[in-house]
Amino acid sequence: MKSKIVFSALVLPSFILLLGFSYSVSINHPSGISEWVVPESAKSVKNPSKATAENVKSGKLLYDKHCKSCHGGGGKGDGTKAKSLNTSCGDFTTKVFQGQTDGSIFYKTREGRTDMPSFKKKIPEVEELWSIVNYMRSFAPVTSKVEEPKPKVVEKKDTSKNEVKKVVVKPVTEKKDSATAARDSILARERSKIEMLLKQYENALNTSDTLIIGAFYTVNGIYIPLHAPTVVGADSIQAYFRKFFRGIKITTKFSIDELEQIGDLALVRATSKGSLTTLGSSVTIADANRHLIFLKKIKEEWKIYRYMSN
Ligand code: HEC
Repeated sequence: MKSKIVFSALVLPSFILLLGFSYSVSINHPSGISEWVVPESAKSVKNPSKATAENVKSGKLLYDKHCKSCHGGGGKGDGTKAKSLNTSCGDFTTKVFQGQTDGSIFYKTREGRTDMPSFKKKIPEVEELWSIVNYMRSFAPVTSKVEEPKPKVVEKKDTSKNEVKKVVVKPVTEKKDSATAARDSILARERSKIEMLLKQYENALNTSDTLIIGAFYTVNGIYIPLHAPTVVGADSIQAYFRKFFRGIKITTKFSIDELEQIGDLALVRATSKGSLTTLGSSVTIADANRHLIFLKKIKEEWKIYRYMSN
C-alpha cells in the first residue's frame, strides 16, 4: 500500500507531462523508416521500480505472454510472428537498443507504432510495464563492458610559479547507467536461479531424498560437515547423506543472509532452523546451523561446489 502511494506520487506527474508531449516528431531515417523519436520528457522519466529477482521474474512472465511472439525469447526480434510483419522488430541485445534510457523503452512499449502495438490498454498497470523494461535489460550481452570514459589531460596555469602544468582529470562516471542496470537485472536473474536451487536442496533434505542430493553438487564438489571428515565428490556426498538419513530425519528451513556472484562463482552465506529426529529413539531436538556455500555455474546451471556448515 505504502509503495503504491509513493509510486503514484512519483510517476503521475511525469505522466501528465508525458501526455502533453506525446505527439510524434518524425525524422527521416536512412533506411526509409523514420527514426522513433521519443520526447525528452519521456526519455528522462526515471524507472520507479527496482530490478529485484521478483520484479524481473514478473517482467519475464509478461514479456513471454505479450512480446515474445514478435520479439523472440531472447529479444533478437525473431519471434514466430516477426516474419509476417512489414516492420523489423529490432534487436534488444544490441548496444544501440540497450543504450536507451529506461524512460525511452517504457515510452515505446506503452505508445507503440506501426506494427508494434500500443500496450496502454493491454497492460494498463504502469508498474507491470516497468517490470518488463527491467527484464528487457537482461537481453544485454553479458560480456559487454561498461566503457569507462578516458581521463582527460588539462593544462593548468600555476600562477605562483608562472608555469603551465598538465593535470590529469578523472571523468565522473554516471552512477547508474543502462549497462549497470542491465548487469543488475542479470544478477537478479541469477539470484533467483540460486534461490530456487537452495529451495530444492532444502526440499531434498526435508524429504530425505538421498537419490538427488548428489546431483546438486559439481562432480568434484566438496562437503565439509560438522564433526565429520570432509566428503569429496558428488558420489561420495550422496553416499554420505544416504547413511546419514538412515538414522536421522530432519526438517529445516534456509534463509539466505548474503549472496554474491563473481562471474561463474557465487558465494552464499545462509542460516537454517528446524529440528532433528533420531529415528531409533524418536527423540526430536531443535537444530540451527550456519552455511557457507560456493556455487559454480556449469552449462548455465548452478551447482554446489564447496559447502561447509556448522
Ligand atoms: C505484433 C508484434 C509485436 C508485439 C506483440 C510487440 N512488439 Fe515491440 N515492436 C514490434 C515492431 C514491428 C517494432 C518496430 C516498430 C517501428 O520501428 O516502427 C517494435 C519495437 C519495439 C520497441 C522499440 C525498439 C527499439 O529499437 O527502440 C520496443 C521497446 C518494443 N517493441 C517493446 C515491446 C514490448 C515490451 C512488447 C510486449 C509488451 C512488445 N514490444 C510487443 C512488434 C511487436
